[in-house]
Amino acid sequence: MAKRTEIVDVLKASKVGDTITVKGWVRAFRSNRFVALNDGSSFKTLQVVIDEEKIEEAIVKRIGFHACIAATGVLVESQGAGQKVELVADSVEILGDNDLSAYPLQPKKQTMEFLREKAHFRMRTNTFSAVFRIRHGVAFAINKYFNDNGYYYMHTPIITGSDAEGAGEMFHITTFEPNKAPTTEDGSIDYSKDFFGKATNMTVSGQLQAEIGALAMGKVYTFGPTFRAENSNTSRHLAEFWMIEPEVAFADIYEDMDLAEDFSKYIIKYILENYPDDLAFLDKRIQDMEKNMKKELRRPMSLTDTLKFVIENDFARITYTEAIDILKRSKPYKKGKFEFPVDWGIDLQAEHERWLVEKHFKKPVIVRDYPKDIKAFYMRMNDDDKTVAAMDVLFPGIGEVIGGSQREERLDKLRKRMQEMNVHEDELQWYLDLRKFGGAPHAGFGLGFERIILFITGMANIRDVIPFPRTPGNAEF
Ligand code: 4AD
Ligand code: MG
Repeated sequence: MAKRTEIVDVLKASKVGDTITVKGWVRAFRSNRFVALNDGSSFKTLQVVIDEEKIEEAIVKRIGFHACIAATGVLVESQGAGQKVELVADSVEILGDNDLSAYPLQPKKQTMEFLREKAHFRMRTNTFSAVFRIRHGVAFAINKYFNDNGYYYMHTPIITGSDAEGAGEMFHITTFEPNKAPTTEDGSIDYSKDFFGKATNMTVSGQLQAEIGALAMGKVYTFGPTFRAENSNTSRHLAEFWMIEPEVAFADIYEDMDLAEDFSKYIIKYILENYPDDLAFLDKRIQDMEKNMKKELRRPMSLTDTLKFVIENDFARITYTEAIDILKRSKPYKKGKFEFPVDWGIDLQAEHERWLVEKHFKKPVIVRDYPKDIKAFYMRMNDDDKTVAAMDVLFPGIGEVIGGSQREERLDKLRKRMQEMNVHEDELQWYLDLRKFGGAPHAGFGLGFERIILFITGMANIRDVIPFPRTPGNAEF
């Protein structure tokens, strides 16, 4: 088989007169003559011209939407706008026929919901290939940022015996068969006889183990899948999502916020610089969709302009108490337009977060110093004894993208919080040990990987930025 040249390289480096072979999927076939060929190496397609004199009719008939072909020929100067070269095919080989009469996708606009059910083919569309190229870019930018800044990538376990967030939203892991699990005298399941000799679950966060790393290696980060059995059927929640969790020794909540802001801006800038074609397509896609919408439903800025705006401006920084005050003075609050109550002590809902970000500050907002009762046991108690050194970074269109805190490094205070919140000490002896033996102040946060990809791509539903979403009632593929 002829060695293939990737289309990204053809468009960048090949010259008129070169004889090459390209392989890819047919995005479009016009006038029985012009193939738009894409091989995933770039957003762009290469135009392949089918020379009817040279290519058998039987072969030409098999060239169709999303069929896979190899084409060999000579590069010539392109007649059409937008591209420098096109390939005049001397020979075409059909690598994979596509029976369009049975193929789930058709060469026309299809809804996101429909494509979600055909997730094994949706990556062949312009939209999803752009999204998943950008997803790769975000992952790379994250690793690059931390590597360049002296952080160590730490792999924390997926199977754990602890509930890091203390929220009880865990998937349990067992080798017991349902109905056949051994029980103790009081009738509860006897996990001491299970595979690990104890009850275990899929991790909700790598943070507690990352703290071990930070208190030895200084600066670490985790980047792995996390699992939450929360029954949230929203466009922002997945049961399996990826989280990035830096943990930094000697940092306080203010340094934590600085890191969160610098880090998120870096990622956005990286994508603006390295994925302009994919972004431009996604931007135009949104503009096309919004054409027939009422003005107030449209985005205030184009996607690319939003991204540029975010990296060029400081995030707003307020306390939770200030956030409540601002919300209480807001028009929607006074007119009873918020669905959920606004009172000091109550968790901010997405509608509140989005109003603060989109209507009031009109840029990302970092809210800090939340009431202790609505936050996890490990967050550092503030001097007022009412709030903890926690922070959430809120983004336009999405709400919370990052959640973090300074950690409670004082043993007595941590113990007290664990008792108050019913977190059992015997499950977390090692965590308490970190405070007893050579402990230090430290802080960190968790970035929801899919949430920032939602923001960067402008997609509307989190199920469309992960290849195979897991949500309540759905674990296809
Ligand atoms: O705010 P969370 O729950 O924080 C933690 O888990 C901490 N242990 C992080 C830390 O301090 N190291 O989750 C962090 C982020 C959220 O801000 C959100 O972006 C994302 O993870 N997230 C989800 N993303 C998709 N689906 C879900 N069900 C999510 N739950 C949280
Ligand atoms: Mg949170």
